[in-house]
Amino acid sequence: MKAVLCRQYGPPETLTVEETESPKATKGKLVIQVKACGVNFPDTLMIQGKYQFKPPFPFSPGGEVAGVVKEVGEGITHLKPGDAVFALTGWGGFAEEVLADGSKTFPIPDGMDSVTAASLMYTYGTSYHALKDRANLQPGETLLVLGAAGGVGLAAVELGRIMGAKVVAAASTDEKLALCQQTGAGETINYSREDLRERIREITGGSGVDVIYDPVGGDLSEAALRSISWRGRYLVVGFAAGSIPSIPLNLPLLKGCSVVGVFWGAFAEKQPKDNFKNVQALLTFYQKGEMKPHIQAEYPLEKVPQALTEMMHRQVMGKLVITP
Ligand SMILES: NC(=O)c1ccc[n+]([C@@H]2O[C@H](COP(=O)([O-])OP(=O)(O)OC[C@H]3O[C@@H](n4cnc5c(N)ncnc54)[C@H](OP(=O)(O)O)[C@@H]3O)[C@@H](O)[C@H]2O)c1
Repeated sequence: MKAVLCRQYGPPETLTVEETESPKATKGKLVIQVKACGVNFPDTLMIQGKYQFKPPFPFSPGGEVAGVVKEVGEGITHLKPGDAVFALTGWGGFAEEVLADGSKTFPIPDGMDSVTAASLMYTYGTSYHALKDRANLQPGETLLVLGAAGGVGLAAVELGRIMGAKVVAAASTDEKLALCQQTGAGETINYSREDLRERIREITGGSGVDVIYDPVGGDLSEAALRSISWRGRYLVVGFAAGSIPSIPLNLPLLKGCSVVGVFWGAFAEKQPKDNFKNVQALLTFYQKGEMKPHIQAEYPLEKVPQALTEMMHRQVMGKLVITP
């Protein structure tokens, strides 16, 4: 089978496309013929050795796939060859076939195509867990989303709208903000030319935002936290800007607010039943037509380096999907 391989840590252009051995199903695992694999920010970190998971070389990046079951290992009873499935694999998905854990593989519901199925779990799973389980977002509350047109950001905008919040999208270009408006943001802030704090003051009449969803980090974080409302919840989701901010601890004291960590992967491992319920809720939103992932482009395996470079250069709105 063909696979994109990372043989040493480096930038996307060091990845190669090669013929390799097909994986074999083992106990509790199954082989999926990959039809689509979503691109996520951690893929860019993993190939550079900057992510918390470091698979042995050579490995294929690509953490969420959709495809058809080719072979099932001992102990798997809920799936059989030929079933259309989507799965979280962590890595290995930028390939024609991948080995997946039975416990992290789910049947694709009727009416959903594989590109959509490969674009759901990571971004929407993270954002739903963040907004529902960590922030307890309530209808009528104000939600500020930073990096709002990115993968997890756009999912947060959409889910915020579904959950009845007033969504304020903040991003670096007007084109990105136009997409956020189409997806459910009532207000927008272009933080490359507008002052974040001043605009939040204007939008909220000075009371601040109730929930802040921050997958960006860097300099934006402290300015955002200074604009949170009394008893607000600040969600620490990621550091796409590259630097991990240090926050003065007097701010949560003065605001009476909570700074809340979000680690969806660990949540899915430690609370699989709760995660399963969240996935079911997301599938229901999709089936009711309330939610639809925005796919910017589909690329073949050969264009994985281009896809990862676009992500690292802030050129992606919503999702890129690899279709081997
Ligand atoms: N905690 C969790 O469980 C969890 C789960 C999934 C992802 N994450 C993290 O969330 C972050 C976003 O992931 P994603 O898949 O949504 O990525 P993405 O699609 O690339 O979105 C990231 C956004 O961050 C902004 N950004 C600012 N500076 C950037 C830079 N130097 N490089 C790249 N982007 C920059 C960009 O928006 P603007 O151009 O508008 O500023 C971009 O749209 C990552 O740090 C990822 O590791 C965390």
